[in-house]
Amino acid sequence: MQERPRRLRRCQLSVPGSSEKMMQKAAGMGVDFVFLDLEDAVAPSEKRPARAKIVQALNTLDWGRTTRCVRINDLSTEYAYEDIIEVVEGARENLDMVMLPKAMSASDVQFVDKLLAMMEKKLGLKKRIGIDVLIEEVEAMMRVEEIAASTPRLECLIFGMGDYSASQGVSIRDIGGPSGYPGDIWSYQRHKLTIAARAHRIDAVDGPFADFREPEAFREECRRAMTLGMVGKWAIHPSQVEIAQATFSPAEADVARAREMIRAYDAALAQGLGAVQYDGKMIDIASVRIVKNLVDRADRIGM
Ligand code: COA
Ligand code: MG
Repeated sequence: MQERPRRLRRCQLSVPGSSEKMMQKAAGMGVDFVFLDLEDAVAPSEKRPARAKIVQALNTLDWGRTTRCVRINDLSTEYAYEDIIEVVEGARENLDMVMLPKAMSASDVQFVDKLLAMMEKKLGLKKRIGIDVLIEEVEAMMRVEEIAASTPRLECLIFGMGDYSASQGVSIRDIGGPSGYPGDIWSYQRHKLTIAARAHRIDAVDGPFADFREPEAFREECRRAMTLGMVGKWAIHPSQVEIAQATFSPAEADVARAREMIRAYDAALAQGLGAVQYDGKMIDIASVRIVKNLVDRADRIGM
């Protein structure tokens, strides 16, 4: 079986596929991951012409190290299959990923998986196109474990709190924004999705925050998602990119401390000790497992 690529997703920038100007801007931003949108950021009248614009942007712009993804329309629409066919045939190896919104079940993801497999064979593509899935309907949240297990092509689950709010009937004014609910209204959903993703060795990412003029509130949402195990957050505006990429990057000092702690633990083990004092606190193999996640993030970034 092919290994899943280890991609960076500290920030996934959403860019309307109908806007050549925004796609051009996005290509030069140095963001980890961009998805060119055919779904909600594109009006129905623009959905078909946007496919060709996306192909053009993928084939002609210099995207550097940015992972390039297209978000298709959901599988209940008349657009989804042609979104995949036109963009994959047009962009071929200039496309890395397909994002599936409003997945309802594992079989939705398997449909996209099979279609991509057929196209890869027909076109003779050397690399496998990955799938990221948006969990944004209550049905999907209920079945998140089976969706996480759906196919080895799946690389990431994203919590889409905009549509999810509508689906659950959450009263909220701005997507991803404050709700007045005591505590963190998304604690349960973020944990549930992240547990399913981690159990299947895939990434968990947090969705959009619409109020792009509130950078500190956005940073706090990034921090919460990061603390409970998510690897990144969406940006809907260029001003959110740097905040997300910085918040989901471990601090140099923390990485150095983590590596030192692992060395201290290994030294203790060599002396036959399972638990020792480090920095005035107890550390054991569980402490090492926790900081190894941090080191893993640092390795992915190349720190
Ligand atoms: N990607 C790339 N460039 C973007 C961008 C994005 N998501 N959002 C804004 N920009 C560009 C603008 O074109 C503008 O460029 P300019 O300075 O060369 O004119 C610059 O960044 C500043 O934008 P600003 O004037 O502050 O906002 P705007 O009114 O042009 O756009 C939105 C605001 C919300 C309409 C826009 O950010 C947007 O469309 N975001 C994505 C929406 C989306 O994808 N939704 C679906 C997922 S939830
Ligand atoms: Mg949505």
